[in-house]
Amino acid sequence: MLQIPGYELHEKFFETCGYIFFRGIELSTGKQVIVKTPMPENESYRFYVYLQHEYLLLKEISSPGIIRVLNIVESDDRVSLILEPFEGTLLSELISNSGLTVADTLVIAKNIAFTLGELHRNGIITGTLDPSRIIADPANGTIKMPDFTRSVMLPPGEKEISAANFHYPGPLYIAPEQTGCINRLVDYRTDFYLLGLLLYEMLTGKTPFHGDDLTGLIHSHISKKPVPPSNIKKNLPASVSMVVMKLLEKNAENRYQSSWGIRSDLEKCIEHAASGKVVHEFHAGQNDRSETLMMPVKLYGRERETSVLTELFKNAASGKSCMVIVSGDPGSGKTSLAQELKKHVLQYGGYFIEGTFNRQP
Ligand SMILES: Nc1ncnc2c1ncn2[C@@H]1O[C@H](COP(=O)(O)OP(=O)(O)OP(=O)(O)O)[C@@H](O)[C@H]1O
Ligand SMILES: [Mg+2]
Repeated sequence: MLQIPGYELHEKFFETCGYIFFRGIELSTGKQVIVKTPMPENESYRFYVYLQHEYLLLKEISSPGIIRVLNIVESDDRVSLILEPFEGTLLSELISNSGLTVADTLVIAKNIAFTLGELHRNGIITGTLDPSRIIADPANGTIKMPDFTRSVMLPPGEKEISAANFHYPGPLYIAPEQTGCINRLVDYRTDFYLLGLLLYEMLTGKTPFHGDDLTGLIHSHISKKPVPPSNIKKNLPASVSMVVMKLLEKNAENRYQSSWGIRSDLEKCIEHAASGKVVHEFHAGQNDRSETLMMPVKLYGRERETSVLTELFKNAASGKSCMVIVSGDPGSGKTSLAQELKKHVLQYGGYFIEGTFNRQP
């Protein structure tokens, strides 16, 4: 058994995201704790840095969905986090054992939405939200998020950040703006897309886009509309499906803008699921208000130019090569227009290469 000075480790609780979680006690007080430590194959400096990062992110935050970090301990080239005790089962396990009803799912999703709101208020974007990063107790709907090693704290005063600041989260749980293939930055609404994926998988047993074709998956996140969960799971209230589809909007401006708006709709969905009645008057996002002023990142009035470029690109992809020169005054939107092509390039398995020249003064 592993030795952590000052603590006695008991049985393994679970493993996730490259870490083992042990139950144990603090020797000086006899208090129960959970010890999070890298799995043996991950005892590298990299994982040492990840846990230091997690400790700094979480040490000031207190919220029901976030496991309180009590201490960080270094010993024999290993760093471990000491966490307050908690209970529950990994969401990935609950999903694969089909252990979730629609009612369980909605309460869990509501608590995740609340926790995301708390994190965002503290300037943290998870950027990585998937069933291996949620511990849930279906009996009471409580959740805990056991891993923030890949989360990012926004620089002071910033509301958005480049996807390059995040670890690549893999092709299943990734928001369009995290792919690097569209001209958008990551902001708190990225986590809402990831919540949409999570809710989709909890309700239907599968993420909306799956399979082995990596490029195809990325392209689907960028431009393919998911099949509504109500088409897959019969008897799912239409309102639940509408909430999921709003979370999964490609453009962050069309998603929910606040944790409060999501929770308010999920509460209505919980009522609908309990009553079993068909509800006609539901509109997703009715009580949703942005708590942060976000400027929409969208190209306005360039539909004609975009479609000309797209058509020419399609011709080029099928062998009729051509060259296009876009001209205009400084700041008139040449780069923004060219960037719009990125998503189409990906669809054809192409490469988007960019470079820049500056005029000599
Ligand atoms: N059609 C548009 N809709 C919304 N925003 C736009 C539009 N065109 C340009 N912008 C905004 O104007 C700013 C300048 O655009 P951009 O960098 O694409 O111009 P540019 O022509 O490439 O400039 P430069 O000549 O300096 O390279 C950017 O913030 C961009 O988002
Ligand atoms: Mg430019």
